[in-house]
Amino acid sequence: MTAPTSDESVNAPFGVIDLFAGPGGLDVAARHLGVPVVAGIEWDKDACATRVAAGLPTEPGDVRKFGPSDFPSATVLTGGPPCQTYTVAGGGAGRRDLDDTIGLAKRMAAREDVSAHLAGLDDERTGLVLEPLRWALAAIDSGNPYEAIVLEQVQAALPVWVVMRELLEAEGYSVAPPAVLHTEQFGVPQTRRRAILIARRSTEAVMPRPTHRVYRKSEERHEGDRALLPWVPMGEVLGQSRRYPFSVVSNYGTGGNPKDRGRRLSTEPSATVTGKISRNRVWHGNHTEIEMDRFSNAEAGLLQTFPADYPWAGNAIPQQIGNAIPPRLGVHVLAAALGLDDETVDRALAVTEWTAIG
Ligand SMILES: C[S@@+](CC[C@H](N)C(=O)[O-])C[C@H]1O[C@@H](n2cnc3c(N)ncnc32)[C@H](O)[C@@H]1O
Repeated sequence: MTAPTSDESVNAPFGVIDLFAGPGGLDVAARHLGVPVVAGIEWDKDACATRVAAGLPTEPGDVRKFGPSDFPSATVLTGGPPCQTYTVAGGGAGRRDLDDTIGLAKRMAAREDVSAHLAGLDDERTGLVLEPLRWALAAIDSGNPYEAIVLEQVQAALPVWVVMRELLEAEGYSVAPPAVLHTEQFGVPQTRRRAILIARRSTEAVMPRPTHRVYRKSEERHEGDRALLPWVPMGEVLGQSRRYPFSVVSNYGTGGNPKDRGRRLSTEPSATVTGKISRNRVWHGNHTEIEMDRFSNAEAGLLQTFPADYPWAGNAIPQQIGNAIPPRLGVHVLAAALGLDDETVDRALAVTEWTAIG
């Protein structure tokens, strides 16, 4: 592809190549928006099983074994690579990992061959978080730069996205300042933070604007910025299956009584959905006497805003669910990245059932 001019770009036939595609959080968002997915590259056989059941185009295998020339029709590069928890504060190993990653990113952008260095690293995630950069640079060097780049990671990866911004800007991209987005501010019934990078080739890159209020334990739902909708409580999306007020102890976070850690009521958004969600205890009301049960996979998927009938398949389903970007956040992020209009976004957000194609 040659980079479209800004006039053409809005209507350009986008096609997504999704690196580290997981069970398809971002691809579900793309499907809801009517944006074609060329392929999602994923090496975990369970996540691939779900993708295939969902009818999502899937290339099973290692992202490092492929490159842009394998997917020539793709115009949009997306990815949520696994990554270390860089602890920037206080120095130590976390800081060193971050410095190594940034140093390698700069050498890659200088077109140095760092493959031998990457192969020798103790923690292979350093190399994986740089894979989207390798793809972006390879596409530029082949004369077919991606029109849009969308990257998603845990908030600890923000400093990597900040450096990636500098490097992509030097390559001619417009890159919105990378930011940590709060999922409940996009109507997800869950608090989760994700570091997002959005780059555009031919027009200005912009971040999505929050639609809902931020969740604060000390604030009631109706309090806060009047221009935004109140955050969505988990009881609202699980209402079908759970008729009674409930609370969940996720054991998320630190401190306090471990038996009561991370308690959220059904009138609040859920805590971050992780791969351990199947261990969360669901209690009747705000009590610890009457344990009801655990969340089903479908319920965990709903908290991540997957359609209720999403065909989870293979093993380790809670892990697959916890790994994903909530499709609803994905809709907002992709729509902002591709400059799609509000009507398209509203239509995408109204989809609650999944129709597998293929
Ligand atoms: C954080 S998850 C991404 C989830 C995805 N963005 C979604 O929304 O569903 C990272 C995924 O990368 C996969 N993965 C890790 N290393 C990989 C590699 N070298 N090649 C392909 N997939 C890999 C993992 O199996 C996992 O499913």
